[in-house]
Amino acid sequence: MGRCDICANSSVKCPYPLRRDGSCYTYVSPSSLTRHNFSAIIATVKPETLNDVLNTYRSYGHRAYGESVTELQHALQCAAFAQQAGEPPVVIAAALLHDYGHLCHNLGEDVAERGVDARHEILGAKLLKDLFCDEIVDAGRLHVPAKRYLCWKEAGYFDSLSDASKISLELQGGPMTDAEAKKFESEPHFELAVRIRRYDDMGKVPDMQTPDLDSYRPLLEGFVRRVA
Ligand SMILES: [Fe+2]
Ligand SMILES: [Fe+2]
Repeated sequence: MGRCDICANSSVKCPYPLRRDGSCYTYVSPSSLTRHNFSAIIATVKPETLNDVLNTYRSYGHRAYGESVTELQHALQCAAFAQQAGEPPVVIAAALLHDYGHLCHNLGEDVAERGVDARHEILGAKLLKDLFCDEIVDAGRLHVPAKRYLCWKEAGYFDSLSDASKISLELQGGPMTDAEAKKFESEPHFELAVRIRRYDDMGKVPDMQTPDLDSYRPLLEGFVRRVA
C-alpha cells in the first residue's frame, strides 16, 4: 500500500471515515483509491460557545470553498441571499452555518476533486448539535441529501448545478431513488434543508459584497441552546 497523501500516514490507516458505509479509503493517487476497514471517528474540537464557532470561521474561513470563493465568503453569501429573500432568522442562521463541517476536516481544500467525500455535512452536524437548535443542525446535516433529493424531484435541477457540485454529487451518491426520496421527506426538517440548498447553490459569486461575520452574532445568539 502506498503512502496516504491526505493524512501523510505511511503505515496503514487514514483517520477519516470517508465512505457512507462507515469504512474508509486510503488515498493513493487521483486514479487509485484503496479501501480498508476502519472505525475511528475524526477527532475535532467541539465548539462549546458561539465564540468558538465564530473563531473557527475566523481561523479557517480563508480556505477555498472552490468556484472562486472562500469558505467564509460562501457562508456569508448564503446568509445574505436568504436575508435578501426575506427569510426568517432561523433560515438565515442555517444558511450561514450549513458548511461548518468543511472548516473542521484536514483533508485539503480540493478534497472532492481528488475523489474523496469528506462527509462534511455529518461532521458539521455532530459538532454543532449540542450548541444549536435542531432546525439549524438538521438543515446542515441534510443539505447534501437535499441536493440529491432535488435532482430526483425537479427536472432541470441537475443541469443548473455547477461543475463542482456535479462532481461532489457523484461522490455523495448521485440523485436519490424513489425510496430514498420518500424517506428524506419524512425527515422533520427536510423542507428547511431544501430551502438552504437553494441558497447554497447561489453562494458562489466572486467578489460579492456581504455583511460581515460579526453582524450575524445577534441573530445566531437566538439559536444557541441555553444550558441551565
Ligand atoms: Fe456543503
Ligand atoms: Fe455550501
